[in-house]
Amino acid sequence: MGTPDIMKISLAGAQFGARVTLVEPVNIYGCVLGDDVFVGPFVEIQKGARIGNRTRIQSHAFVCELVDIGEDCFVSHGAKFVNDLFSGGGPARGDKSLWMPTRLGDRVSIGTNATVLPVSICDDVVVGAGSVVTRDITESGIYAGNPARKIRGLHD
Ligand SMILES: CC(C)(COP(=O)(O)OP(=O)(O)OC[C@H]1O[C@@H](n2cnc3c(N)ncnc32)[C@H](O)[C@@H]1OP(=O)(O)O)[C@@H](O)C(=O)NCCC(=O)NCCS
Repeated sequence: MGTPDIMKISLAGAQFGARVTLVEPVNIYGCVLGDDVFVGPFVEIQKGARIGNRTRIQSHAFVCELVDIGEDCFVSHGAKFVNDLFSGGGPARGDKSLWMPTRLGDRVSIGTNATVLPVSICDDVVVGAGSVVTRDITESGIYAGNPARKIRGLHD
């Protein structure tokens, strides 16, 4: 395990790989960050989340519990993940049995201010700025809109 490059922040129970950079202020606790991860300012990463090697989490992003992000991903400024769909008519209010997981593969880029509901996203996907991902993405490509739909292949 490595030691993160810390700039006057406090962390609780997080595990860090080698060469992790955190830019204060961040709120990071109980999660696992791989090697060479970068986390910009005003980011919250909650317990149990996992961030893969070389992934960058840009400023103002929110990564909640039950989110697993692969390697070489890019989570842009202000992007948000969701684990509580209010499926019982409102917030789960701590009943974690109602929470749902999200899994991102490798080389997934989430655009600025996008919202990712509890879904699985395969490798090699781009999600456009401001998009809302409501369904699993099982095919590589570029997705945008609310709800996010495939607009083209990655290299078309
Ligand atoms: C999704 C994205 C990659 C698409 O780029 P592109 O392939 O060049 O797409 P185009 O600009 O040719 O647009 C294609 C269509 O998708 C629409 N579209 C593009 N981006 C969109 C978005 N974020 N949300 C909704 N629709 C979008 C366009 O309006 C256009 O629709 P039309 O054909 O009806 O006119 C890009 O627009 C985007 O949102 N990138 C995210 C960048 C980002 O957040 N960077 C963060 C670091 S600064």
